[in-house]
Amino acid sequence: KTIFVITPTHSCVTQKIDLNSMCHTLMSVQKVIWIIIEDSQKPTDLVTKLIQRCNVEIVHLAIPTSSDYRAEKGKPAHSKSRGVEQRNAGLNWLRENYSSHNCSGVFYFGDDDNKYDLRLFEDIHNTQIASVWKVAWVGGLKWEGPTCQNGRATSWHSVFETELREFPLDMAGFAVHLCQLMKHPEARIGVNIHGDRSKGGHLETDFLQHFANKSSVECRGSESETYVWHSKTSSPSLYGEKNGHSSKSVETR
Ligand code: UGA
Repeated sequence: KTIFVITPTHSCVTQKIDLNSMCHTLMSVQKVIWIIIEDSQKPTDLVTKLIQRCNVEIVHLAIPTSSDYRAEKGKPAHSKSRGVEQRNAGLNWLRENYSSHNCSGVFYFGDDDNKYDLRLFEDIHNTQIASVWKVAWVGGLKWEGPTCQNGRATSWHSVFETELREFPLDMAGFAVHLCQLMKHPEARIGVNIHGDRSKGGHLETDFLQHFANKSSVECRGSESETYVWHSKTSSPSLYGEKNGHSSKSVETR
Protein backbone atom coordinates (compact mmCIF):
# COMPACT_ATOMS: atom_id res chain seq x y z
CA LYS A 1 0.00 0.00 0.00
CA THR A 2 1.40 3.38 -0.99
CA ILE A 3 1.03 6.46 1.19
CA PHE A 4 0.35 9.61 -0.84
CA VAL A 5 1.19 12.80 1.03
CA ILE A 6 -0.46 15.86 -0.53
CA THR A 7 1.34 19.09 0.35
CA PRO A 8 0.32 22.57 -0.78
CA THR A 9 3.22 25.00 -0.53
CA HIS A 10 3.67 28.71 -1.14
CA SER A 11 6.54 31.12 -1.42
CA CYS A 12 7.52 32.49 2.00
CA VAL A 13 10.70 32.99 3.99
CA THR A 14 10.48 29.56 5.64
CA GLN A 15 9.36 27.53 2.59
CA LYS A 16 12.76 25.98 1.91
CA ILE A 17 13.41 24.80 5.47
CA ASP A 18 9.83 23.56 5.80
CA LEU A 19 10.06 21.44 2.65
CA ASN A 20 13.57 20.28 3.56
CA SER A 21 12.41 19.12 6.96
CA MET A 22 9.45 17.31 5.42
CA CYS A 23 11.73 15.67 2.88
CA HIS A 24 13.88 14.28 5.70
CA THR A 25 10.82 12.90 7.45
CA LEU A 26 9.44 11.27 4.30
CA MET A 27 12.83 9.75 3.44
CA SER A 28 12.28 7.47 6.44
CA VAL A 29 8.84 6.31 5.28
CA GLN A 30 8.52 3.23 3.08
CA LYS A 31 6.43 3.35 -0.11
CA VAL A 32 5.54 7.00 -0.05
CA ILE A 33 4.74 9.31 -2.96
CA TRP A 34 4.94 12.99 -2.07
CA ILE A 35 2.63 15.19 -4.15
CA ILE A 36 3.86 18.76 -3.83
CA ILE A 37 1.59 21.42 -5.30
CA GLU A 38 3.00 24.90 -5.47
CA ASP A 39 0.76 27.92 -5.17
CA SER A 40 2.26 29.44 -8.32
CA GLN A 41 1.74 29.70 -12.10
CA LYS A 42 4.49 27.17 -12.74
CA PRO A 43 7.01 25.14 -10.73
CA THR A 44 9.61 27.44 -9.17
CA ASP A 45 13.38 26.98 -9.25
CA LEU A 46 13.56 26.85 -5.46
CA VAL A 47 11.21 23.88 -5.17
CA THR A 48 12.55 22.15 -8.29
CA LYS A 49 16.12 22.22 -6.93
CA LEU A 50 15.04 21.10 -3.49
CA ILE A 51 13.19 18.14 -5.01
CA GLN A 52 16.30 17.12 -6.97
CA ARG A 53 18.18 16.79 -3.67
CA CYS A 54 15.34 14.94 -1.93
CA ASN A 55 15.49 11.15 -2.07
CA VAL A 56 11.72 10.61 -2.08
CA GLU A 57 9.41 9.79 -5.02
CA ILE A 58 7.83 13.16 -5.80
CA VAL A 59 5.11 14.48 -8.09
CA HIS A 60 5.59 18.20 -8.59
CA LEU A 61 2.58 20.28 -9.64
CA ALA A 62 1.72 23.97 -9.61
CA ILE A 63 -1.55 25.87 -9.57
CA PRO A 64 -1.99 29.45 -8.40
CA THR A 65 -4.70 30.30 -5.91
CA SER A 66 -7.57 31.95 -7.82
CA SER A 67 -8.96 35.36 -6.88
CA ASP A 68 -11.86 33.45 -5.35
CA TYR A 69 -9.60 32.19 -2.57
CA ARG A 70 -7.14 35.10 -2.33
CA ALA A 71 -7.50 37.25 0.78
CA GLU A 72 -8.65 40.75 -0.19
CA LYS A 73 -6.11 43.56 0.10
CA GLY A 74 -5.80 44.75 3.69
CA LYS A 75 -7.47 41.61 5.07
CA PRO A 76 -5.46 38.93 6.91
CA ALA A 77 -4.38 35.78 5.02
CA HIS A 78 -6.65 33.63 7.19
CA SER A 79 -9.77 35.51 6.03
CA LYS A 80 -9.84 32.93 3.21
CA SER A 81 -9.16 29.17 3.33
CA ARG A 82 -5.62 28.25 2.25
CA GLY A 83 -4.32 25.47 0.03
CA VAL A 84 -7.77 24.53 -1.35
CA GLU A 85 -7.06 24.55 -5.08
CA GLN A 86 -3.63 23.02 -4.54
CA ARG A 87 -5.05 20.06 -2.60
CA ASN A 88 -7.72 19.60 -5.26
CA ALA A 89 -5.00 19.52 -7.93
CA GLY A 90 -3.39 16.72 -5.88
CA LEU A 91 -6.69 14.82 -5.74
CA ASN A 92 -7.16 15.29 -9.51
CA TRP A 93 -3.71 13.86 -10.11
CA LEU A 94 -4.62 10.79 -8.04
CA ARG A 95 -7.90 10.30 -9.92
CA GLU A 96 -6.11 10.65 -13.26
CA ASN A 97 -3.33 8.22 -12.38
CA TYR A 98 -5.20 5.52 -10.43
CA SER A 99 -8.58 3.83 -10.80
CA SER A 100 -11.06 1.79 -8.81
CA HIS A 101 -9.17 -1.35 -9.98
CA ASN A 102 -5.81 0.08 -9.03
CA CYS A 103 -6.18 1.97 -5.78
CA SER A 104 -4.05 0.28 -3.17
CA GLY A 105 -3.05 3.31 -1.16
CA VAL A 106 -3.99 5.93 1.38
CA PHE A 107 -3.79 9.70 0.99
CA TYR A 108 -3.04 12.29 3.61
CA PHE A 109 -2.93 16.10 3.55
CA GLY A 110 0.42 17.01 5.09
CA ASP A 111 1.00 20.75 5.20
CA ASP A 112 4.59 21.93 4.85
CA ASP A 113 4.65 23.78 8.19
CA ASN A 114 3.71 20.80 10.40
CA LYS A 115 6.07 18.40 12.18
CA TYR A 116 5.57 14.65 11.95
CA ASP A 117 6.46 11.70 14.20
CA LEU A 118 7.21 8.63 12.09
CA ARG A 119 4.63 6.63 14.03
CA LEU A 120 1.95 8.74 12.31
CA PHE A 121 2.69 6.96 9.05
CA GLU A 122 1.81 3.60 10.60
CA ASP A 123 -1.62 4.99 11.42
CA ILE A 124 -2.00 6.40 7.91
CA HIS A 125 -0.92 3.06 6.44
CA ASN A 126 -3.49 1.09 8.45
CA THR A 127 -6.44 3.19 7.22
CA GLN A 128 -9.19 0.97 5.79
CA ILE A 129 -11.68 3.67 4.71
CA ALA A 130 -11.07 6.89 6.67
CA SER A 131 -9.25 7.40 9.95
CA VAL A 132 -8.74 10.23 12.43
CA TRP A 133 -6.34 11.18 15.25
CA LYS A 134 -5.26 14.04 17.46
CA VAL A 135 -3.24 17.00 16.16
CA ALA A 136 -1.16 19.05 18.60
CA TRP A 137 -1.29 22.84 18.92
CA VAL A 138 -4.50 23.48 17.02
CA GLY A 139 -7.47 25.73 17.70
CA GLY A 140 -6.01 27.28 20.84
CA LEU A 141 -5.58 23.88 22.50
CA LYS A 142 -2.67 21.59 23.30
CA TRP A 143 -4.36 19.14 21.00
CA GLU A 144 -7.61 18.85 19.10
CA GLY A 145 -9.34 15.72 17.88
CA PRO A 146 -10.83 12.43 18.99
CA THR A 147 -10.45 10.18 22.00
CA CYS A 148 -10.58 6.55 20.92
CA GLN A 149 -12.06 3.43 22.48
CA ASN A 150 -11.78 0.11 20.69
CA GLY A 151 -10.92 1.88 17.44
CA ARG A 152 -13.93 4.24 17.47
CA ALA A 153 -14.08 7.93 18.38
CA THR A 154 -15.98 8.25 21.66
CA SER A 155 -15.51 11.99 22.24
CA TRP A 156 -13.98 15.05 20.59
CA HIS A 157 -11.78 17.70 22.17
CA SER A 158 -12.19 21.09 20.44
CA VAL A 159 -13.36 24.62 21.14
CA PHE A 160 -14.07 25.94 17.62
CA GLU A 161 -17.65 25.22 16.47
CA THR A 162 -17.47 21.75 18.00
CA GLU A 163 -21.20 21.15 17.64
CA LEU A 164 -21.32 22.47 14.06
CA ARG A 165 -18.49 20.27 12.81
CA GLU A 166 -19.15 16.53 12.44
CA PHE A 167 -15.38 16.10 12.64
CA PRO A 168 -13.80 18.84 14.75
CA LEU A 169 -10.22 18.30 13.64
CA ASP A 170 -7.34 19.75 11.65
CA MET A 171 -6.29 18.89 8.10
CA ALA A 172 -3.36 16.89 9.53
CA GLY A 173 -5.76 14.76 11.59
CA PHE A 174 -7.13 12.30 9.05
CA ALA A 175 -6.33 9.99 6.13
CA VAL A 176 -8.54 8.34 3.51
CA HIS A 177 -8.11 5.13 1.49
CA LEU A 178 -7.44 5.85 -2.18
CA CYS A 179 -10.30 3.61 -3.40
CA GLN A 180 -12.69 5.96 -1.60
CA LEU A 181 -11.61 8.77 -3.87
CA MET A 182 -12.79 6.80 -6.91
CA LYS A 183 -15.97 5.74 -5.13
CA HIS A 184 -16.86 9.37 -4.36
CA PRO A 185 -15.96 11.35 -7.49
CA GLU A 186 -17.74 14.43 -6.13
CA ALA A 187 -15.47 14.68 -3.09
CA ARG A 188 -13.15 17.66 -3.12
CA ILE A 189 -11.77 20.18 -0.70
CA GLY A 190 -13.88 23.31 -0.19
CA VAL A 191 -17.26 21.68 -0.87
CA ASN A 192 -19.58 19.97 1.61
CA ILE A 193 -21.74 16.89 1.00
CA HIS A 194 -24.62 19.12 -0.14
CA GLY A 195 -22.41 20.72 -2.80
CA ASP A 196 -22.16 24.05 -0.93
CA ARG A 197 -18.92 25.91 -0.43
CA SER A 198 -17.21 25.16 2.89
CA LYS A 199 -17.25 27.83 5.56
CA GLY A 200 -13.93 28.95 7.09
CA GLY A 201 -12.54 26.28 9.40
CA HIS A 202 -14.86 23.63 7.92
CA LEU A 203 -12.63 22.33 5.08
CA GLU A 204 -11.63 19.23 7.00
CA THR A 205 -15.01 18.13 8.29
CA ASP A 206 -16.75 18.87 4.97
CA PHE A 207 -14.24 16.78 3.04
CA LEU A 208 -14.15 13.86 5.46
CA GLN A 209 -17.95 13.63 5.57
CA HIS A 210 -17.90 12.43 1.97
CA PHE A 211 -16.37 9.20 3.25
CA ALA A 212 -17.42 8.60 6.85
CA ASN A 213 -19.46 9.75 9.80
CA LYS A 214 -18.63 10.01 13.49
CA SER A 215 -19.59 6.44 14.26
CA SER A 216 -17.98 4.78 11.24
CA VAL A 217 -14.66 6.63 11.17
CA GLU A 218 -11.61 4.64 12.35
CA CYS A 219 -9.99 6.21 15.40
CA ARG A 220 -6.20 5.88 15.63
CA GLY A 221 -3.15 7.39 17.27
CA SER A 222 -2.00 7.19 20.84
CA GLU A 223 -4.07 7.89 23.93
CA SER A 224 -1.27 9.76 25.66
CA GLU A 225 0.78 11.32 22.85
CA THR A 226 0.39 13.19 19.58
CA TYR A 227 2.14 12.14 16.36
CA VAL A 228 1.67 15.38 14.42
CA TRP A 229 2.08 19.04 15.39
CA HIS A 230 0.59 22.11 13.75
CA SER A 231 3.85 23.79 14.66
CA LYS A 232 3.91 26.63 12.09
CA THR A 233 7.50 27.74 11.52
CA SER A 234 8.00 31.28 12.73
CA SER A 235 9.55 33.81 10.36
CA PRO A 236 12.93 35.17 11.48
CA SER A 237 13.35 38.72 12.65
CA LEU A 238 15.43 40.48 9.98
CA TYR A 239 15.24 44.06 11.24
CA GLY A 240 19.02 44.47 10.96
CA GLU A 241 18.83 44.04 7.18
CA LYS A 242 17.16 47.44 6.90
CA ASN A 243 19.78 49.34 8.89
CA GLY A 244 22.73 49.26 6.55
CA HIS A 245 23.80 45.70 7.40
CA SER A 246 22.34 43.99 4.37
CA SER A 247 23.66 40.37 4.14
CA LYS A 248 24.65 39.91 0.50
CA SER A 249 25.63 36.88 -1.60
CA VAL A 250 24.35 34.12 0.68
CA GLU A 251 20.79 32.94 0.11
CA THR A 252 18.93 31.77 3.20
CA ARG A 253 15.62 31.07 1.54
C1 UGA B 1 -5.15 25.57 9.12
C2 UGA B 1 -5.04 24.11 8.67
O1 UGA B 1 -3.95 23.48 9.34
C3 UGA B 1 -4.82 24.09 7.14
O2 UGA B 1 -4.63 22.77 6.71
C4 UGA B 1 -6.03 24.73 6.48
O3 UGA B 1 -5.82 24.80 5.07
C5 UGA B 1 -6.18 26.15 7.00
O4 UGA B 1 -6.23 26.20 8.44
C6 UGA B 1 -7.47 26.74 6.42
O5 UGA B 1 -8.53 26.55 7.03
O6 UGA B 1 -7.41 27.26 5.31
P1 UGA B 1 -3.14 27.42 8.81
O7 UGA B 1 -1.91 27.31 9.63
O8 UGA B 1 -4.06 28.54 9.15
O9 UGA B 1 -3.87 26.06 8.85
O10 UGA B 1 -2.77 27.49 7.24
P2 UGA B 1 -1.33 27.49 6.59
O11 UGA B 1 -0.46 26.48 7.25
O12 UGA B 1 -0.85 28.88 6.49
O13 UGA B 1 -1.63 26.96 5.11
C7 UGA B 1 -2.01 25.62 4.88
C8 UGA B 1 -1.26 25.06 3.65
O14 UGA B 1 -1.57 25.86 2.51
C9 UGA B 1 0.27 25.08 3.82
O15 UGA B 1 0.81 23.88 3.31
C10 UGA B 1 0.69 26.30 3.01
O16 UGA B 1 1.99 26.21 2.43
C11 UGA B 1 -0.38 26.36 1.92
N1 UGA B 1 -0.64 27.75 1.45
C12 UGA B 1 -0.75 28.78 2.35
C13 UGA B 1 -0.74 28.00 0.11
O17 UGA B 1 -0.63 27.07 -0.71
N2 UGA B 1 -0.96 29.29 -0.32
C14 UGA B 1 -1.06 30.34 0.56
O18 UGA B 1 -1.25 31.52 0.10
C15 UGA B 1 -0.96 30.07 1.92
